[in-house]
Amino acid sequence: MLVKYLGHSAFLIQTSEHNILIDPFIKDNPNCPINLKELPHIHYILVSHGHNDHIGDTILISKKYNSTVICNFEISLYLSKYNIKCMPMHIGGYVKPDFGKTKMVPALHGSSIYEGTHLIYAGSPCGFLLEIENTILYHAGDTGLSVEMTLLEYENIDYAMLPIGGVFTMDIDDCIKAIEFIKPKNVIPMHFNTFEPINADPDLLKSKVKSCNISILNPGEDIKI
Ligand code: NI
Ligand code: MN
Repeated sequence: MLVKYLGHSAFLIQTSEHNILIDPFIKDNPNCPINLKELPHIHYILVSHGHNDHIGDTILISKKYNSTVICNFEISLYLSKYNIKCMPMHIGGYVKPDFGKTKMVPALHGSSIYEGTHLIYAGSPCGFLLEIENTILYHAGDTGLSVEMTLLEYENIDYAMLPIGGVFTMDIDDCIKAIEFIKPKNVIPMHFNTFEPINADPDLLKSKVKSCNISILNPGEDIKI
């Protein structure tokens, strides 16, 4: 499969049969290297929580491609008023979409959807464990460091996408502790350098971590897994 970084926490995963987007923050993402028109046909969209920099362009994209959105129950209720096809789930559970297996795991953060003048409750924020083509990926969503991550050690994660930007999520120092908990084989840093408050230097993470490989992807770069 090909994993392409679209900046912030947005990734495009392409298998031989499916195109999957995670947290598709594209139109308003200053670092996203492509516009909505340049996306391939999208079969699935995974949404970690309701904040706009994660739910992003989910409605536009899923309407265009009739994509299935995998998200928590509350976000699926919100999307259902737009007639969007969802696979609702919640923390601790897993579903088996036809690209593999998706388990929802905890994230320590908030989750709401800001619409017009009011804030809509969007359930618990989450991370995703994905099993695709015998590879285990973990997308942490937005999260602080948490002891829940110690449980992920037993998932034998091949690639962990972890936030490093601080302020709204873990920073580099806490990410280093998260890596000690999770013990992934590879880490892809995310959620940094999109806006000034979350500026961070991924090379600093790379220089401090010896226990696994740090794959720094610039927006638009991809990695073959
Ligand atoms: Ni957030
Ligand atoms: Mn965020």
